[in-house]
Amino acid sequence: MTAFEVNGQPVATDADPDTALLWVLREHLGLTGTKFGCGAALCGACTVHVDGQPTFSCITPVWSVEGLSVTTIEGLVAADHPLPRAWEAEQVAQCGYCQSGQIMRAAALLAETPNPDRVQIREHMSPNLCRCGTYGRIVNAVERAAREA
Ligand code: FES
Ligand code: FES
Repeated sequence: MTAFEVNGQPVATDADPDTALLWVLREHLGLTGTKFGCGAALCGACTVHVDGQPTFSCITPVWSVEGLSVTTIEGLVAADHPLPRAWEAEQVAQCGYCQSGQIMRAAALLAETPNPDRVQIREHMSPNLCRCGTYGRIVNAVERAAREA
């Protein structure tokens, strides 16, 4: 068994320890807000926080989070974080597929840098791709969330 915390709750899984955290979240715990994009640390759709650090869950074996704290988009929404509200206000999403990963990466930025400038936002967000090209609105939404936090 691998025991860790997800969104503040203790969980344990009997999944093979080499199973990617992404699949444990989605298939074992039913947390489908975290998405599978490339499976190779190239797109960011699967981004979650592990002990506060933005992490590609698609390449993170579940054994490596033993005893650690994982936060997913469901946890961020439940905590009424300002980012999801800002995302809605700025109408960021198009197809939406990349957006939970984008929000999780943005949340890690605001946790360390509460008032980032646009260059800092773009640099921090650069590992996360959006096939729909919502990059401009993502920057606007992060700025809005910083203002309204
Ligand atoms: S699915 Fe993990 S980085 Fe693309
Ligand atoms: S909103 Fe479609 S991939 Fe980003």
